[in-house]
Amino acid sequence: MTKTLLRALAGEAVWPPPVWLMRQAGRYLPEYREVRARAGDFIALSTDPALAAEVTLQPIRRYRFDAAILFSDILMLPWALGHGLRFAEGEGPVLPRLRDQAGVEALDRGRVTEAISPILETVRLVRAALDERTALIGFAGGPFTVACYMIEGGGSKDFAATRQMAYQDPELFGRLMQVLTEATIDYLLAQIAAGAEAVMLFDSWAGVLSPSLFRTHVTAPARRIVGALRLRYPSVPIIGFPRLAGVMLGDYAVLSGADGVGMDTAMDPARAQWLVPKRTALQGNLDPMALLAGGQAMRDEANAVLLAMRGRPFVFNLGHGIVPQTPPDHVAALVEQIRAA
Ligand code: CP3
Repeated sequence: MTKTLLRALAGEAVWPPPVWLMRQAGRYLPEYREVRARAGDFIALSTDPALAAEVTLQPIRRYRFDAAILFSDILMLPWALGHGLRFAEGEGPVLPRLRDQAGVEALDRGRVTEAISPILETVRLVRAALDERTALIGFAGGPFTVACYMIEGGGSKDFAATRQMAYQDPELFGRLMQVLTEATIDYLLAQIAAGAEAVMLFDSWAGVLSPSLFRTHVTAPARRIVGALRLRYPSVPIIGFPRLAGVMLGDYAVLSGADGVGMDTAMDPARAQWLVPKRTALQGNLDPMALLAGGQAMRDEANAVLLAMRGRPFVFNLGHGIVPQTPPDHVAALVEQIRAA
């Protein structure tokens, strides 16, 4: 096994660590903006295999990251289930608000296979284009985070309606979570069958939950997903990213059984060492704003992460996605620094 990402996720303290960045394909790259303009909107880009493969590969060509991540979005799963989705310019994703049983019943797992076929074709194209050192990561949203966007009808500062539903109508909320969990398993199995060599579960809003709801709606679904994938593909590693989990990251790592867990920007890497057993790889967690700032501040922050992670299985990344204003040169400088670690 020569791909450093897969070695780190298998429990090896690879040094210098493998590096890739969340949202490495995106608007900070002029070549992305060019293809994005050609495609029209985000969904058109995500469902055009040639263009989606092209934007997946753009950051690999520029920076030779150790992993490519499929260009798509966590909200393509609700889209595939027949729930509406559009990306409004400047305001992010817009979806119908799911608030009742009829909304859950309308979700149609039967249409997913056909809807995701262009995304799976993208996986095949990218996998065929990658060299022997670059791994391909597939992904899905954590069911809780996907439920957040479906219930709120888009982003929100506190996901209040979602949390209220989880307490007030646990049966409805649980039914939605169950449908999303099973659909996520189907979706990730299909990505692996098409060529994804590792998969990541992005649970971006995990941190808005109380500890008890976190266990029920973040850790337990992750455990179910990890178990189902491992049964079919025992050697394909799974990275869980319960963002803003805080001290719950330890429980999540142990109970989900994930091969790696992501540290968000707020997590102290030295503390994560105590929370997460050494057999589980850690991934993260440079502040995307330090990358935006660049220079000595960025170098110091990246060094602090490296120092805390040396000697354990680790994948260098950000604590959240690259922001669009990031100068591409800063990314090049960061990759150079990690390679010299
Ligand atoms: O990381 C990568 O390069 C792979 C592709 C990827 C995208 N979104 C592309 C994208 C991945 C892994 C995601 C995950 C995602 N999507 C998450 C989880 C991670 C996180 O950021 O917390 C979430 C919550 C979403 C939902 C989403 N998609 C939002 C809120 C937005 C709008 C905000 C924004 O940045 O515009 C999107 C759109 C989106 N997804 C873009 C990209 C490159 C921007 C689309 C554009 O070109 O206009």
